[in-house]
Amino acid sequence: MIKVVTFPELAQARKALPEPVGLVPTMGYLHEGHLALVRAARGDCASVVVSIFVNPTQFTPQEDLASYPRNLARDLRMLENECVALVWMPLVEEMYPPGYQTWVNVEDVSQPLEGQMRPGHFRGVTTVVAKLFNAVRPQKAYFGQKDAQQVVVIRQMVRDLNFPLEIVVCPTVREPDGLAMSSRNSYLSPQERQAAAVLYRALSRAAQAFAAGERDAETLRCILRDTIQEEPLARLQYASCAHPETLGELEGEVGETGLLSLAVYIGKTRLIDNIAIGG
Ligand code: PAJ
Repeated sequence: MIKVVTFPELAQARKALPEPVGLVPTMGYLHEGHLALVRAARGDCASVVVSIFVNPTQFTPQEDLASYPRNLARDLRMLENECVALVWMPLVEEMYPPGYQTWVNVEDVSQPLEGQMRPGHFRGVTTVVAKLFNAVRPQKAYFGQKDAQQVVVIRQMVRDLNFPLEIVVCPTVREPDGLAMSSRNSYLSPQERQAAAVLYRALSRAAQAFAAGERDAETLRCILRDTIQEEPLARLQYASCAHPETLGELEGEVGETGLLSLAVYIGKTRLIDNIAIGG
């Protein structure tokens, strides 16, 4: 496994990689969710590139950039075991040198849900992902359904800017109690960790109601809200039943498909999760 830091090192190493190349962008502190993306990439591609970069521009000023969990040595050991060809760990100073002033902004689908709660978040995500795509030039790039809006926003960027690559989306990897794996789960105390299972419980209940014939969007949102309220350590930020492509909140009848999503504070830790319905 080759490890590189700078853009010239990456360019040099990239030349020697057998194609097609699959890219898995991450912020590190890897878990089974990340590894599922790596394994999917390894199944499709001759070479897998993983980037590890805690991207400062996608954190809002009040957020956890300084405390975001990091363990590079452990990440590299995990990737060694997955037959990754190349790991790129760019530095903030090279990604955003002094005087940096170019941003990629996807308009409509960046606005609701996470975009509303985390102003500027998706501008940071799309800018860094565009830079990663330009530098690595992968044929395929792998993202998790865990961050459903991120997938919609990146797909839109790829279409609009004609990036010559395919986006592959992998299912959310969960703990046995349903909690979606996340680097931020490491912030939870044992008691909070137990409480955090409420997100998936809420999504499952609403998805079951949909499967049983419930079609009213507001009723599905109520099921989400009511379930979250049952957990004393949980504080709901939003409960959504949205169109899976526009991400606009649905009113009245849910059509063939929808996206149920949640943002919930468990203590001081903000967790998100989602489930697709129908389709
Ligand atoms: P990060 O949170 O490290 O996630 C990296 C990738 O792993 C994302 O595509 C995310 O959706 C996926 N992922 C995380 N948890 C998952 C789970 N439980 N199951 C399946 N996939 C999961 O998302 C980011 O980093 C950043 O925004 C990034 C795209 C790297 C840009 O900075």
